[in-house]
Amino acid sequence: MEVIIQPNQESASSLAARIVSREIRANPHLVLGLATGKTMECVYRHLVRMHKEEKLDFSLCSTFNLDEYVGLFPSDPNSYRHYMDQHLFRKVNVDPRNTHLPNGLADDLEAECRKYEAMITRFGGIDLQLLGIGKAGHIGFNEPLSALRSRTRVKALTPTTLKQNAPFFGGEERVPRRAITMGVGTILECRRCLLLATGGSKAEVIAKAVEGPITSMISATTLQLHARCTVVVDEAAASKLVEKDYYRWIFANEPEWEDYR
Ligand code: GLP
Repeated sequence: MEVIIQPNQESASSLAARIVSREIRANPHLVLGLATGKTMECVYRHLVRMHKEEKLDFSLCSTFNLDEYVGLFPSDPNSYRHYMDQHLFRKVNVDPRNTHLPNGLADDLEAECRKYEAMITRFGGIDLQLLGIGKAGHIGFNEPLSALRSRTRVKALTPTTLKQNAPFFGGEERVPRRAITMGVGTILECRRCLLLATGGSKAEVIAKAVEGPITSMISATTLQLHARCTVVVDEAAASKLVEKDYYRWIFANEPEWEDYR
């Protein structure tokens, strides 16, 4: 893992967007894994600006989102398809036919999960996967006890996640009880992972994810197994990390990060 600490939310999300844009410029056919949530909104804002002002071209990219709620129509303002349309897809030149999210309305959800995995394979696997982190430490909707080798499947959401997402739905009882999510194993197969966390509410879980023992109780800890995982945090989210000085030293000295400093 590499941990990059930035002064604030703005600089952290801007750096994450720059990593994404550099990957797209290096490989216009990039298969990009996408995430949702408040944290990602800033990243998408930067990517939209880069598309408009710096000619960042999404026309040959394909995208796969981590997850989608079961039972919501794509037009539902709380569906992740709607989120992606609003924050990114409609504002850049990605071909809508190349954007993929699991279909939470499929009659046969298990078949839909298998289809999603097959589609990722058909596109040659995910090159770069963007990740947020839930307060309980989940990536995608890989709730506590998610198997380290799990694949795309239906997961029941935990009370913590229901509570965290309740404000979007106007009450906990309105949050769908289940979601389709890429598995931990699916995520670990991506060629590169980029996790972004900002704000003090993520400090505890970031410390566990980066410096704690690997456990299926906190699916983000499994990223320690990934050969190329970059974690970008702001000072607030980094506040409970013990080895901050070491991470800063690496960022200041590794030639790879020269253009980002
Ligand atoms: C949801 C999503 C996750 C996301 C998390 C954090 O649970 N399924 O992929 O990482 O929310 O969201 P936020 O950025 O709003 O804190």
